Amino acid sequence: MESKSIDTVLKETRSFAPSPSFAQQANLSAADYERLWKDAQAEPVRFWEHAAKNIDWFEPWTKALSWEEPFAKWFLGGKTNAAYNCLDRHVANGRKDKTAILWEGEEGEVRKLSYGQLLDRVSQLANGMQKDLGLKAGDTVAVYMPMIPEAVVTMLACARVGVTHSVIFAGFSSSAIHDRVLDADCKAVFTADYGKRRGKKLELQPIVEEGLKGVDCVQHVVVFRNEKNSPLGSRGVEWQALVDKQSTKHEAVSLDAEHPLYFLYTSGTTGKPKGIVHSTGGYMVSVTQTAKWVFDLKEDDIYWCTADIGWVTGHSYVVYGILSNGATALLYEGAPNYPDWGRFWSIIDKHKVSILYTAPTAIRAFMRAGESIPRKYKLDSLRLLGTVGEPINPEAWIWYHNEIGHGKCPIVDTWWQTETGAIMITPLPGVTATKPGSATRPFPGIVADIVDENGKSCAPNEGGYLVIRHPWPSMVRNIHKNPDRFKDQYWSRFPGLYFAGDGAHKDENGYFWIKGRVDDVINVSGHRLGTMEIESALVSHPAVAEAAVVGRPDELKGQAITAFVIPKESADLSNLAALSKELSQHVVSEIGALARPEEIKFTRTLPKTRSGKIMRRLLKDLAAGKQASGDTTTLENPDLVQLIQ
Ligand code: PRX
Repeated sequence: MESKSIDTVLKETRSFAPSPSFAQQANLSAADYERLWKDAQAEPVRFWEHAAKNIDWFEPWTKALSWEEPFAKWFLGGKTNAAYNCLDRHVANGRKDKTAILWEGEEGEVRKLSYGQLLDRVSQLANGMQKDLGLKAGDTVAVYMPMIPEAVVTMLACARVGVTHSVIFAGFSSSAIHDRVLDADCKAVFTADYGKRRGKKLELQPIVEEGLKGVDCVQHVVVFRNEKNSPLGSRGVEWQALVDKQSTKHEAVSLDAEHPLYFLYTSGTTGKPKGIVHSTGGYMVSVTQTAKWVFDLKEDDIYWCTADIGWVTGHSYVVYGILSNGATALLYEGAPNYPDWGRFWSIIDKHKVSILYTAPTAIRAFMRAGESIPRKYKLDSLRLLGTVGEPINPEAWIWYHNEIGHGKCPIVDTWWQTETGAIMITPLPGVTATKPGSATRPFPGIVADIVDENGKSCAPNEGGYLVIRHPWPSMVRNIHKNPDRFKDQYWSRFPGLYFAGDGAHKDENGYFWIKGRVDDVINVSGHRLGTMEIESALVSHPAVAEAAVVGRPDELKGQAITAFVIPKESADLSNLAALSKELSQHVVSEIGALARPEEIKFTRTLPKTRSGKIMRRLLKDLAAGKQASGDTTTLENPDLVQLIQ
């Protein structure tokens, strides 16, 4: 909320009307939109009932919604299968030879899998899971894999059998794997010997081995081998050997609409990440409908979402929502600046990418590298651009619009969360006039609002809390094993409303401007991190007595991590630089590289209220290099922090 870009957002007045040529061919016509949007606000359930026709059901549902706050069930009685919707129905309807996955590796290697080939591979692995690994509907497995087609095959094979997957981003540490695998009682872990990044091997199987020490629930570790003799470990099976020998015939299991498709662990306001539970039927209805309209998917599009499958964006808009529409999804395994900052643009030209969906942090990095780089490329295949993960500052929006979209591609700035499963607030291309920095209006069928402390709707331009007033099909169903935390986190602050944890305002046109988190969650490069989680990693180090972590504005990453650390009396403070490095490394090994603190400040005191709560507001000011502002009268120790130099 304190970032400079937010201030500029507030002053932004530019508006970009949809171009007539885009509007003319858009999946949703502007003429239909206004009426449809109003009807869907008044009767969201009817809207979603209609949207449910976009997926195939083995048995029809009988009731669209049962709502016992905070527990929703959608499409009751319906039976379906996510993998069937992503594969079989397309193969049966003329897309057998159409490319489903177009993969590029860092060295420029290309692999293509048609819908027919993908269905065969998924069917084989599904057979292997059932017959050789003894997995069945209701079991849970973890997936810790690089961005390779086999990661998608693995997710879809789970979906096909009804095995709930828990994908763990391949940058997380062994202790993160340990906690997540135990929490979800995983029976198997799918991984690879290594992934590739910046020309180097990124070891994965050894990290899994380490993470599985003392974990008994896991019976099998299935390893995709890039090299014939890579170690498999004691519970290991080779991915290829398991799959190759199986039949390509497999019947997708008929699953209840509420069957859990996946768990995805995400950071919250406590020390432990929470397992967000997503359903099958409702989830597929939301991701299919949103992908169709927000990305305006057409038969010949080459769609590229740059998110890793380890995040919700990868789940919903690399895999499920995109394949369920029968589109072609590009996957790139590698860094955006390998071998140089032109890599994205060269991929776009080479594969004629028509839709690009990426993160503001990446756009800012490209901006910093200079427009001379994209100007070396044609980029004329692009027709639509998107962003996700954090607020986009208008400067970056305009740069994206001019330098990448050449002024002709609509930009969809999509607001949503791991918990929402699908895009919630977004422009619709060809329909919505966009304003740089605003995610514009709620998707039809999503009833969003901004409320004040007391849950009362805010007036235009009055800042408040972003809430959702009505259940939607892809909403989080629960926190795995923790319904109390689920209620407390999302449904207790404003009874009857879903509390998103973001601050926002609506302007006079009803456009939403999302400012960022209002809780103890920070957003680093579009990735969500809990400050408590990093604090508990720090205090698990023997030299640390207490720690407080805050986000400070960062031009490139949105927010960067600053940690205030009180060392123990026994700690050796003769070399603070070395200790600082050691603590950073400790956080990396506890959580993963994405949580590495940018800055560690050693201190003797932390500002606390008389009731003992750390006053983060003051620490945020200090981390941002500002004077501590606001009311300090409740402070226990008014000298704030005594930094150890
Ligand atoms: O603060 C919002 C921010 O990202 C948070 C959700 O993070 P996560 O669950 O990791 O999912 C990210 C990808 C869907 C939100 O609470 N956020 C996401 N998209 C936007 C955004 N903030 C502003 N504008 C967006 N378009």
